[in-house]
Amino acid sequence: MTHQNHRTGKLPHDPASFWRADVEFPEFPSLQEDLQVDVVIVGAGITGITSAYLLVNEGLKVAVIEADKVLNGTTGHTTAKITAQHDLIYDEFIHNIGRSHARLYYEANSEALEFIKNTVEQHQIDCEFSVQDAYIYATTEKYARKIEKEAEAYETLGIEGGQVDSIPFDIAIQNALVMKNQAQFHPTKYLVHLIKHITEKGGLIFENTTAVNIETGEQPVVLTREERRITAKHVLTCSHFPFYEGLGLYSTRMHADRSYALAVKTKKKYPGGIYISADEPTRSLRSVMVDGEEIVLIVGENHKTGQGIDTMEHYKALEAFGEEVFGLDDIIYRWSAQDLITLDKLPYIGELTSGQPNILIATGFRKWGMSNGTAAALLFRDMIVGKDNPFQKLYTPSRFYANPSLKNFLVENANVVGQLIKGKLDSPKTTPEDLANGEGAVITLDGHRKGAYKDDAGELHIVDTTCTHIGCEVEWNSGDRTWDCPCHGSRFSFTGEVMEGPAEKPLQKYDYTMLDNLTSEDSGY
Ligand code: FES
Repeated sequence: MTHQNHRTGKLPHDPASFWRADVEFPEFPSLQEDLQVDVVIVGAGITGITSAYLLVNEGLKVAVIEADKVLNGTTGHTTAKITAQHDLIYDEFIHNIGRSHARLYYEANSEALEFIKNTVEQHQIDCEFSVQDAYIYATTEKYARKIEKEAEAYETLGIEGGQVDSIPFDIAIQNALVMKNQAQFHPTKYLVHLIKHITEKGGLIFENTTAVNIETGEQPVVLTREERRITAKHVLTCSHFPFYEGLGLYSTRMHADRSYALAVKTKKKYPGGIYISADEPTRSLRSVMVDGEEIVLIVGENHKTGQGIDTMEHYKALEAFGEEVFGLDDIIYRWSAQDLITLDKLPYIGELTSGQPNILIATGFRKWGMSNGTAAALLFRDMIVGKDNPFQKLYTPSRFYANPSLKNFLVENANVVGQLIKGKLDSPKTTPEDLANGEGAVITLDGHRKGAYKDDAGELHIVDTTCTHIGCEVEWNSGDRTWDCPCHGSRFSFTGEVMEGPAEKPLQKYDYTMLDNLTSEDSGY
């Protein structure tokens, strides 16, 4: 195994995902012409690729377009647990959406797990798939009680598992709950295999092809940034944050959450199983064997995107936890991931807006994208071929559960408004001269708020900090050296390029040497 950022005993300098290393990714051209297909799929992560796999198997003509490279978004930065144990959720679901819907959620995710398992077996995919028990543990009394409630919910819903006295780690726990026979795998190895199958069956895949709009109608048309048109009977938007919202108001119904991951070699042997803490800050654990080497993944430190402390501190906290629990020999990768959380914590999967059956969306997987993304693909397949699916109503984006959706709607949007105002009022004291090499910050330049990053060679990169989505102020993410938006999670490189939507346009760039010679009036900002 090659280690991209190897620095024994220290956090790697550059962020890079373990799942992107040592896997040969196929490459695809960008779309150069207009197309007519049965189904166009926007986004080449687990949802888009699994949907394409299922639909080419139905004999449909499918095109997948991806703004970046295949499997490089959330799917390339996951923990890759395949489980229906989505931290503490079933007790809450029973209260908020009812017992039968809570049970359906469990079934949808269990079926997704079964589908992945069968697909791995059927195609003999070498992707380190293994069945594991999943544990959630509490280290405080408050969360020990919540686990008790969750255990009661398992019993009510007939979920296989229950409370256990201990977990095999040096962590002082007060309670834990197991869900039996869950799984883990290597997601990109699995999906690269599905991609091969898709292309062998005539499916088309295009990289570096950004969808920017949809013309609705009987035959919707996806328009790309390069002004290509893809006409289809069905459009699937699987692009994490929807690139097209229609009248679905998704920006007001989701928030983005960022979490951090380390891939480490440990002194102590990993005892098997997949784990997550119920308490804050979250700690999530699993291991993976690669070439006979055991690698442990330590994930957690979630916070709203653009609203955390200095992001390197999150990696350091995971490092300290790993050191305490396992003893660390080496940290070989570090990366962060972004997830979208809906108002009621259920993903939005189905018609983008009700009454529009030919434009479907899947988003808001709340960190559990391996199972929910696969469940979305299975649902899409059934909706397109006209087969009943028991989970369609559960996931439909037009649902509305007054509790907790209404309260969360108000909280989320108050948060966005708060961020919008707060960003405008902040007047940072930092100036470009204060920045060391490799450092970034929001600065004040000629009385105006700007974003500045001084690279390792001392060159300054200055951008306007106003997000091009709807105008919140981006914040510096020191761990990834990106500008992150606290409102809906758009992320930009230090040069201002869009790395993650919903924003489509780059941040405005400024040339510092030119700025230096101009007054603020001359420079027009
Ligand atoms: Fe919506 Fe930035 S992502 S304002």
